[in-house]
Amino acid sequence: MKQILVTGGAGFIGSHLCERLLNEGNIVICMDNYFTGRKQNIVHLLNNPNFELVRHDVTFPYYVEVDEIYNLACPASPPHYQFDPVSTTKTSVIGAINMLGLAKRIKARILQASTSEVYGDPFVHPQEESYWGNVNPIGIRSCYDEGKRCAETLFMDYYRQNNVDIKIIRIFNTYGPNMRPDDGRVVSNFIVQALKGENITIYGDGTQTRSFQYVDDLVEGMTRMMATENFTGPVNLGNPGEFTMIELAEKVISLTNSKSKITFHPLPADDPKQRKPNITLAKEKLNGWEPKISLEEGLRPTIAYFRQYLNAQ
Ligand SMILES: NC(=O)c1ccc[n+]([C@@H]2O[C@H](COP(=O)([O-])OP(=O)(O)OC[C@H]3O[C@@H](n4cnc5c(N)ncnc54)[C@H](O)[C@@H]3O)[C@@H](O)[C@H]2O)c1
Repeated sequence: MKQILVTGGAGFIGSHLCERLLNEGNIVICMDNYFTGRKQNIVHLLNNPNFELVRHDVTFPYYVEVDEIYNLACPASPPHYQFDPVSTTKTSVIGAINMLGLAKRIKARILQASTSEVYGDPFVHPQEESYWGNVNPIGIRSCYDEGKRCAETLFMDYYRQNNVDIKIIRIFNTYGPNMRPDDGRVVSNFIVQALKGENITIYGDGTQTRSFQYVDDLVEGMTRMMATENFTGPVNLGNPGEFTMIELAEKVISLTNSKSKITFHPLPADDPKQRKPNITLAKEKLNGWEPKISLEEGLRPTIAYFRQYLNAQ
């Protein structure tokens, strides 16, 4: 039985990770400041004696004795990370410093939830880990992209300088139950619009592609990465299956039996045109890990979750 700290544990991905780690028999300390996370996401875990919930902001030092740290604290959707961009950078950078300092002190293994956004608007397709990216340092997405890039730098420097046992994963678009309906991400936007019978809004001409990973596949990859020896990453975790925005909208409309129509709007600044992971390294280092859940299989429970969420409003 391990003691594990999950920062950002009340968020979308964190809540699934906490549940998985508890199911494996670990003691889980979930730390969150509820900026985008919700108690509702982890309320079903509160009766478990191996689960502890702590309200804390990762930009302030925190001390606890644990074996492993998953550092997920950071708003992940553009409307939320752009709401207070200075705070977003602080969460990534100061949060990383605080958690790395803790890992160093207590000799814990620590995993950073980085992002495919470190590749920016890539010239290389699909993206592999050796690609350094094409990121605008002064745009409206930079607080997130550059904050995460600096966090990766800190992780590598704590590893090289202090021998901290680090792991870096670069997460590509992930979806599933416990996403917020208002988080502005494409899967949640389309599902909520379809369930409400509103127009489905596509930004640009809808031919830009994205890859979509179901959250259970990601959590499997995260725990496998945490268990590796002599491998720091970074490693991509994503689903290489590519869909255009039009294809996604049509799938959502058909699975929800919605009468919604598709409408087209101007593309926001710095929106990458194409994003697709190369997962060769993950397959090699994580015992053949690859996503198992198809878009349609993953959309069904996600739609059921949003249906219930909206009905409860
Ligand atoms: N969902 C994706 O597709 C995706 C893709 C790439 C990377 N990621 C990364 O995965 C992690 C989790 O993302 P998510 O999709 O679950 O987003 P989320 O917004 O649902 O979860 C983030 C959690 O961090 C908490 N948090 C934010 N600032 C904090 C702070 N200062 N102190 C303590 N807690 C704080 C939030 O309240 C929330 O519970 C993030 O680091 C994100 O950058 C997610």
